[in-house]
Amino acid sequence: MKKEFPVFILGLAAAFVVPLIFLILVPYLQLSNADPEVYSEEDDVPTAWAYPSVWTGANKEGEHVYASLGCAYCHTQMVRPTYAGADMWRKGWGGNEEDGLARETRAADYSNDRRAMLGYMRIGQDLANVGARQRDRAWYHAKLYNARIQNVDSNMPSYKNLYRKQQIAQPSANAIKLEGRFAVEEGYEVVPTEKAEALVDYLLSRKMDAPLPGKNEEEEVAAK
Ligand code: HEC
Repeated sequence: MKKEFPVFILGLAAAFVVPLIFLILVPYLQLSNADPEVYSEEDDVPTAWAYPSVWTGANKEGEHVYASLGCAYCHTQMVRPTYAGADMWRKGWGGNEEDGLARETRAADYSNDRRAMLGYMRIGQDLANVGARQRDRAWYHAKLYNARIQNVDSNMPSYKNLYRKQQIAQPSANAIKLEGRFAVEEGYEVVPTEKAEALVDYLLSRKMDAPLPGKNEEEEVAAK
């Protein structure tokens, strides 16, 4: 018994340390200092660009709202390769298909995020490219205010606390269109708060379909 105890503790330590090294430390060292890849002329993309490109728009605050509201419990942000799931067969999940940009997600796609919101479970759709398939701000606001406006059977929670009901003085341009059972009292309107706007900015920035450098070369090699 005396000898078994230290062995048990050692085994326990190894069971935690070995995965920590191979799942976290090694990938971190490999990827954290990777330089952005630059597009070449064959890539048919403005050459001043580099991959991964820098997100524009104020979405850092939105990232915080996304994290704090637990969206990642139901939504992933990761388009898996086809051997691991049928993500690429779902319309728009891989990105803008019409422009031929749709593809699986790569580790470098998250470089500009403070936190990579990979997600825990996939109760709702994958959101890695939601900004590519839906550009309408009003659509996002309606979904967040009450997902059943668009989909009667939706089981996505309502985030009404991100919206403010106010008396109409001058009708606001960004008020949510609410009809039927969702309508509010006459003389009132529902408008997004700053948090809601930041969250929508963040969702609109979810476009992990930037072309990969060297893609055209690969295609040429494959065609030969
Ligand atoms: C309890 C699980 C759950 C949580 C938490 C949740 N959602 Fe959803 N979401 C869903 C489901 C289910 C759908 C699909 C049904 C629908 O369209 O309403 C969905 C749909 C969506 C869509 C539409 C995607 C598309 O491609 O049409 C967006 C955008 C979205 N959710 C954003 C969010 C954001 C942002 C949060 C956090 C504030 C969030 N969701 C939290 C379950 C959830």
